[in-house]
Amino acid sequence: KVTAFKVSFTVNGQPHDLELDPRTTLLDALRERLRLTGTKKGCDHGQCGACTVLLDGRRINSCLTLAVMHPGAAITTVEGLGQPDNLHPMQAAFVKHDGYQCGYCTPGQICSAVSVLEEIEAGIPSHVTADLNARPQLTGAELRERMSGNICRCGAYSNIVDAITEVAGSKA
Ligand code: FES
Ligand code: FES
Repeated sequence: KVTAFKVSFTVNGQPHDLELDPRTTLLDALRERLRLTGTKKGCDHGQCGACTVLLDGRRINSCLTLAVMHPGAAITTVEGLGQPDNLHPMQAAFVKHDGYQCGYCTPGQICSAVSVLEEIEAGIPSHVTADLNARPQLTGAELRERMSGNICRCGAYSNIVDAITEVAGSKA
């Protein structure tokens, strides 16, 4: 018999106290215990990015981490970014630019995209920048590299880049 572990964290600003099998991934805790099914399970082993959420402001594949490893964390899922009648600018841009087809990868794409713009703004380098001391630029190549962990089986990539580029432009 596995002993349940207690963990407390906030999700989309709401505090939660959970008792979990310690082997429960953060993804399964979100979807199956908290019924936040916006975050999707694609591969369940770190290859597709469908499960991306923001954990203390950084993007993470929620299928690759255990929920009990994050006491006190502030987690944001796609449900917490905006509401249907008050979309986050990134959600609105995905709608405007048709940045999806089936939509399965979309919550992860949007969470990643929000984080990517923060990473670029913070000057965090990527492989695209030859000089790692140079500030990264908001190029299509830079966005594609940083979004490369989010797979879209429908191939909506060019519209996804258009959506992120628009939000980046309005931030500049
Ligand atoms: Fe987590 Fe695919 S479900 S990376
Ligand atoms: Fe279908 Fe991306 S929109 S997998």
